[in-house]
This record gives sequence, structure tokens and C-alpha cells, in this order.
Amino acid sequence: MSEQPSMAPVVAAPAVAFEPRIVAFFCNWCTYTAADLAGVSRLKYAPNVRVIRVMCSGRVDPQFVLEAFAKGADGVLLGGCHPGDCHYAEGNYKTLRRMRMLIRMLKELGIEDGRFRLEWISGAEGDKVKAVVNEMTAQVRALGPLDLPGKFKEWDREMEDLEQHVNASAPQQEEAHVR
Ligand code: FES
Repeated sequence: MSEQPSMAPVVAAPAVAFEPRIVAFFCNWCTYTAADLAGVSRLKYAPNVRVIRVMCSGRVDPQFVLEAFAKGADGVLLGGCHPGDCHYAEGNYKTLRRMRMLIRMLKELGIEDGRFRLEWISGAEGDKVKAVVNEMTAQVRALGPLDLPGKFKEWDREMEDLEQHVNASAPQQEEAHVR
């Protein structure tokens, strides 16, 4: 007996909404405390951030931000004490100088503005943590995935293609040199 083709309508699988992954470097003395306060005060904020505690925003080397992007982050948030309140006197002034340079570098790399954010948030500003995290999550969600690891793979493939192309045309070039 031959099988009858199924008449059931083909239903497309629902598209999975993009949820950004944001790495947040928070200074222990202010923004991390504020994030704690937000939690204790039951101020709900988007669960998209993965917080990494540092002792001072000045501890965050621009390389850490680049590495976070290279490892798949869609956004990076850096939170430190307000200018003048750094527990190590000038750590956050150093942060400001470094991050201004980093922002220029990110632009050169084609990483959009909204994917990196520097905020001064004191230990008492739990509501500001909530506002900043929610705002940044919405902004990065609107930008879509950055997917640098995927772009690196694409780039690797393109370089392999280029290498093959270069090698394939090498004999003719050598002949042309000989003549
Ligand atoms: S101790 Fe918070 S920014 Fe330096």
C-alpha cells in the first residue's frame, strides 16, 4: 500500500527572539554594591548581564573589553565610582582616559556606539543600575547580535579562499617572471 502524503499544514518553528549577552565590569565599592542594593530592594532588571566584580574601574584594561567582545559578548558595561569618589584616588580618572581611547578604537573596528557604556554609579544608586541595565539591554537588543566569534570564522574562511586563489595563480606568475 502506498503512503499518502501528509496534508497537515507545515508550521514554521517560532523564531527565537534575540537576547543580548552583556558583560558588566562593576567596581566593588560602588556599582557592585548598588547592584546588590537593587537586588535587596527587589528592583528587577534585565537578566542579560553577567557581572564581573573588580576592585576599581581602573582595574579594567581596555583589553578586557575587547576580549569580552571577542568571546561573544554583544555589549559591555563598565560601572565605577563617581569622579572624586574612587577609593584609590584616581582610578576612575584613569578609566575615563583609557575608555575614551577605547571608544575611538571600537568605532574603527565597526562596533556600534551602544555596545559599550561607561557609567558612574554610587553604592546608593540601585535604581540607576536598574535603569542603565534595562536601557542598555533594550539598545543592544535593537542592534542585534554582534557575533564576533562567528565573524572570525567567516574571516578565516575568506582568508583560506584567498590563500587558495593566490597559490592557484602562483605558477603562471612565476612563469611570467622567468620570461
Ligand atoms: S574604587 Fe570604584 S572606581 Fe575606583
